Amino acid sequence: MDRVRLAIIGAGNIATMHLPGYLADPRCDVVAVCEPNADKGARKAAEWGIPKVYTDLAECLADDDIDAVEILTPTHLHKDHAIAAARAGKHISIQKPLANSVADGREILAEVAKAGVLFRVFENCCGYEPLRKARELVLDGAIGAPVHVRIKTVTGWSESKFEAGLDPEGYIWRFNDDAPGGHLFDDIVHKFAMQYWLVDRDITRVSSVVKPGPLFFEPAAASFEYEGEGLLGNMEVSHAPDMYIESDGWSADEFFEIQGESGYIWVTRLCARLTELPPVVMYDGLKRNHITFDDVNPDYFRSFDNAAQDFIGAIVDGTTCDLSGELAVKVLQLCFATYQASMEGRTIDVASVSDKVSPPWWPPTMEKLIADSERESARRG
Ligand SMILES: NC(=O)c1ccc[n+]([C@@H]2O[C@H](COP(=O)([O-])OP(=O)(O)OC[C@H]3O[C@@H](n4cnc5c(N)ncnc54)[C@H](O)[C@@H]3O)[C@@H](O)[C@H]2O)c1
Repeated sequence: MDRVRLAIIGAGNIATMHLPGYLADPRCDVVAVCEPNADKGARKAAEWGIPKVYTDLAECLADDDIDAVEILTPTHLHKDHAIAAARAGKHISIQKPLANSVADGREILAEVAKAGVLFRVFENCCGYEPLRKARELVLDGAIGAPVHVRIKTVTGWSESKFEAGLDPEGYIWRFNDDAPGGHLFDDIVHKFAMQYWLVDRDITRVSSVVKPGPLFFEPAAASFEYEGEGLLGNMEVSHAPDMYIESDGWSADEFFEIQGESGYIWVTRLCARLTELPPVVMYDGLKRNHITFDDVNPDYFRSFDNAAQDFIGAIVDGTTCDLSGELAVKVLQLCFATYQASMEGRTIDVASVSDKVSPPWWPPTMEKLIADSERESARRG
């Protein structure tokens, strides 16, 4: 196949970030949008210049002029939608998290294997150029064998036009029992994925403390043990309600540090621009010098373009396209193991998680959400 006819399934908030990469790829024709909200589907299709609009997924999947689908529906629908697409013989790219449970994720992978279609989980961090550079350096041995991976996420507030323009409906299913957990499940899955992907190593055990925060935030500190010898990791998640974050995307800032036997690599951002530091910095402790990679593009939105084009490349040229379904299942296991380790006050074997784990505060009550959101707005006057 030298051109891919792609359908967008779900024209909600995140779809806007997926379209530019596909529309710009000369190997891809975005031929259809499927969205049960007919007005929304028609509006988005007109905006993106897409000829066909479906309101019914089965009808869309029966269209023989569609080779591949980009599934951008609420996470609790991923299992049904991915299985239906696999059975219809479509190549599949699906937004993170893969599914609401490890069991659901595995069911999807079994159907995909049966159908023999290409499958990947859309993880835009794998398209973020500073993180790509960091992984390339690590795997090339530029800092020696990795000994520690530390990832920090902090949420605050921003004046992001993108975030202010999001449809609040896209938050309803995230804040109720359609989701198994809060911020760790919805956003930190990106960082759990990076905890593996940056070093290409499996994580075996987790210990953690996770707390309920305002809204769906879940401040957390987790420690990871990797397979084999000598590699540990940490995940830090905090909420800083009074901290302004300069961002065109989400109100979050990230920091990644990979320590090797002979040096460091820092990725100084993802969503935000809090410092003037170059996006990737390496300290080479053998040569005793710092190398900055100022030419690496730190644009967050470009991570979506790159991830979109990776999918098309995988179909057309057979090139690698992350995340694999198998890694996406491990990411779910790591997320649930992090909740479980905190709830049970013990270390958890990641591989032992076979379903899902919800923290005791989940889902939050409507009263709590209203009170939290009033408190957060009052802080900003
Ligand atoms: N990578 C990221 O940074 C990122 C950010 C936000 C969301 N996401 C993920 O993207 C997915 C969608 O999130 P969102 O924020 O866009 O949610 P959303 O609710 O804004 O959009 C989902 C859309 O899917 C539509 N839909 C529901 N059932 C459908 C069906 N049967 N067929 C076709 N469309 C259907 C809904 O009507 C809605 O328009 C989630 O899995 C979420 O976790 C990823």
